[in-house]
Amino acid sequence: MERIFDKKDVNKVLYGGDYNPEQWDQDIRDKDMELLNEAGVDIVTLNVFSWAALQKNENTYDFSELDKIVKQVTDKGLKICMATSTAAHPAWMARKYPDVLRVDADGRRHKFGIRHNSCPNSPTFRKYSPLLAKKLAQHYKNQKNIVMWHISNEYGGSCYCENCEKAFRVWLKDRYGSLDKLNHAWNSSFWSHTFYDWDEIVSPSNISEYFDGGKSCNDGIALDYKRFMSDSIMQNFIDEADAVKSVIPGAQVTTNFMMMFKDLNYKKWAEHMDVVSWDSYPQRDTEPAYIAFNHDIMRGLKGGKPFMLMEQSPTVSAWLPVNTMKRPGVMRLLSYQAMAHGADTVMFFQMRQSPGGCEMYHGAIIDHSGRNDTRNFLECKALGEELNKLSGMTLGGRTRASIAIIFDWESWWALEDASGINDNLHYPDEVMNYYRAFYEMNISVDIIGYNDPIGGYAIVVAPLMYMVRDNIDEKLKDYVKNGGTLVTTLLTGQVSEEGRAILGGFPGNMMDLCGVWNEEIDMIYPDECNYFLYEGKRYEARLCCSVLRTQGATALSNYEEDYYQGLPAITRNGYGSGTVYYVGTTSEPDFYRHLIKNICMNSGVKDSTDSDIVATSANKASTLEIAARDNDEGKLLYVMNHSSDHETICFTEDCKDILAGRLYRMGEKIDVKPKDVLIMKTVE
Ligand code: GLA
Ligand code: ZN
Repeated sequence: MERIFDKKDVNKVLYGGDYNPEQWDQDIRDKDMELLNEAGVDIVTLNVFSWAALQKNENTYDFSELDKIVKQVTDKGLKICMATSTAAHPAWMARKYPDVLRVDADGRRHKFGIRHNSCPNSPTFRKYSPLLAKKLAQHYKNQKNIVMWHISNEYGGSCYCENCEKAFRVWLKDRYGSLDKLNHAWNSSFWSHTFYDWDEIVSPSNISEYFDGGKSCNDGIALDYKRFMSDSIMQNFIDEADAVKSVIPGAQVTTNFMMMFKDLNYKKWAEHMDVVSWDSYPQRDTEPAYIAFNHDIMRGLKGGKPFMLMEQSPTVSAWLPVNTMKRPGVMRLLSYQAMAHGADTVMFFQMRQSPGGCEMYHGAIIDHSGRNDTRNFLECKALGEELNKLSGMTLGGRTRASIAIIFDWESWWALEDASGINDNLHYPDEVMNYYRAFYEMNISVDIIGYNDPIGGYAIVVAPLMYMVRDNIDEKLKDYVKNGGTLVTTLLTGQVSEEGRAILGGFPGNMMDLCGVWNEEIDMIYPDECNYFLYEGKRYEARLCCSVLRTQGATALSNYEEDYYQGLPAITRNGYGSGTVYYVGTTSEPDFYRHLIKNICMNSGVKDSTDSDIVATSANKASTLEIAARDNDEGKLLYVMNHSSDHETICFTEDCKDILAGRLYRMGEKIDVKPKDVLIMKTVE
């Protein structure tokens, strides 16, 4: 079992979040301490956006205000997640050193403003951001209640300035070694792009390679610029993390990720983080499955280690045209859903609502009224009490999944940026189509990367595995040869690591594994479809229809219309002692449910309702979400009702709901109220 925090320091789910008292005077801060205490808060994230306050000019650092805040929360017994404040640079820095400002894809250097605004390759930023992190670490190195270092905040964006361009050339030299290799990788002879000098290479942008819609005339350079930007910004993270650790070697570092964020290769980043943390901001119409999917992505980034739910709103967010209110009970439900999928903290943005700025109306535990009898405050307080009662019971839990879904940032980039594929096809949506089918059967899924081990999974799903690299093809062959079941799809095995087409027929080296040759793909408009029959049911084939020729595989279903009528849409192939399913098109949710159910049955995969603590839903059409995590203290089943109706469940063993402290006898019908949660444990 792997906990985030040492048991002797932390033995409960930490509860709290961003606290920005710089915005209020002392009497409000004093009142906050009472209110946060009443709400059961035990951790605050401090100092997220205070660079301008901490450093008034190049040479003057002043931590006196932060000292006061640190002292005040420490006196109250709170833990601290200490941020480094570098996600928004000070105005004086932008004025004196314009290289810190980003240049956008249109070539415009931005003026001072907003946040998340620094050029990652600015010499000024690279000097002053780690310096601030180091000074903070030196200043607070003996502050025992700092349990986590929060580097910057929600990294993202990109820059196209000259410093970035120069750094890009260095990055390219390091990657390719020679211009010959680079010219080959980018197929530069297309449109007369051959480079004879590294300095001829410019960053791809709206004033160079990009054309309408932001695609690039050269797939290779665009792909490399994405990699380079992700790496550059990651280096900013590493610079600060190293600075903190140079002073406090045992410090734990994280940075808060965002929901399925395309620009940064989080899988690569996670290697440099001690703990993954992320900010979950679903709206009222966000599917619970989609939230679960994001949690599972985060859990997968560090091989299943628990992550921190760093931010969520107790009520509303503030950046959308309409920011929907969480209904009563939903904040609690989604907090437990995060825990069910691997979170060991429940934290918010934020503790108190801002008096001004564009987040003035963003939800917080304490709202503008400052009262402790609002609906929201009372819900937060009730959850605080519950988490206190749970103590360490849920911490360090592992999810035991027999299904892995491969999620790959580089395939996402390369596929969606390639010209000539259907722009309506979105990589995460197609991965989600498969995920949803497992989720609805309450089957736990690990989301993994190319380099994660796969031998132990009963089923590996690799949707749209567009790019072949890191020997993923050989790895999948070994896996199937040894009895594994692989599900893969259209557009798998199309390009090499450089983004060059794989020659000799798709899916390249995996043709024998899949037993099919994907001869061509018919891209169709979003309001059109073809059809296929699968076990007597007719389903829509949407967006892209691969025209497949079987080479050993058996057709499970054929297209019904058009010139490829009668040719296979879905195939199954025996390979070694395993099986490969190839799904040649995208379809509607019912199809994925149908297919995945069959594949699970054939592979002997049971859902969590049918596992050790056997739970049988009295109502088979139940929408209850059930997810299991186990730690040293045993296995916990989280039963969550996202619907607005009552649901019933019963268990085939005596169980205890550790939230309500209630014992249920085997077979006893349990009413799960709308938006309610049970955490069930078997009784010895
Ligand atoms: C993000 C940021 C916070 C805040 C919230 C508002 O997650 O990290 O600083 O802006 O959004 O929802
Ligand atoms: Zn730049």
